[in-house]
Amino acid sequence: MNLTLRVWRQASPTAQGRIVEYAAKDISPDMSFLEMLDVVNEGLIKAGQDPIAFDSDCREGICGTCGCMVNGVAHGPDPGTTVCQLHMRRFRDGDTIVIEPWHAKAFPVIKDLIVDRSAFDRIIQAGGFTSINVGSAPDGNALLIPKDASDEAMDYAQCIGCGACVASCKNASAALFTSAKISHLALLPQGQPERLTRVRAMVDRMDAEGFGACSNEGECEATCPKEISIAGIARMNREYTRAVITGAGEKKAAASGD
Ligand code: SF4
Ligand code: FES
Repeated sequence: MNLTLRVWRQASPTAQGRIVEYAAKDISPDMSFLEMLDVVNEGLIKAGQDPIAFDSDCREGICGTCGCMVNGVAHGPDPGTTVCQLHMRRFRDGDTIVIEPWHAKAFPVIKDLIVDRSAFDRIIQAGGFTSINVGSAPDGNALLIPKDASDEAMDYAQCIGCGACVASCKNASAALFTSAKISHLALLPQGQPERLTRVRAMVDRMDAEGFGACSNEGECEATCPKEISIAGIARMNREYTRAVITGAGEKKAAASGD
């Protein structure tokens, strides 16, 4: 396959970005999208040019580092997959592919397709610890969890923190990501002791990081590679309302200055 790539190039966080056109020649349809970029980068390096900077780690859809916009869609055209799971057979010979980084104020571009997603780390840090009894390992059946609750909790635990939900949302809202982390623990007995202080701290941190509010557009759910349900956002809002009404987490919020 021979393709034309239109790629966002930006040398540094403060530099002016621009779209640059490249030819991707002799690309196998069996290559992954990132392997195709590797091939293009080898050509750029041989020609003495700066290779296209992009993030990746696992290349099997579990680490969440590789996201970018492919033809205007977060993670590209295949539903329920990350960009590292996208294959070139999804495109046709002669196609033009536009590749851009996530565009969101809270995710500043570091270089080319790489953005700084540390705001997500700070939201998780704000959630703090979970209280558990330490000592000898508990018996496997000592803590009974209803099957429905454990299944739903594990559905939310699948979130890989990729940021596609933010990139797809016209408000650049991190509500789906934050709600996945909150729902995962709120559904399990282990998450109960800090349940309300956790939601208060994480939602307040999310707002402080500059993410927008949720207006129920649904793009986040549509492009999430782990198909996290937007119902989690409703749960997060209920949990947050309960925390505010009961005054949970007020001291923590005041101490952090948020
Ligand atoms: S909710 Fe989905 S899109 Fe958002 S960070 Fe988690 S896995 Fe990525
Ligand atoms: S490189 Fe890990 S999810 Fe894509």
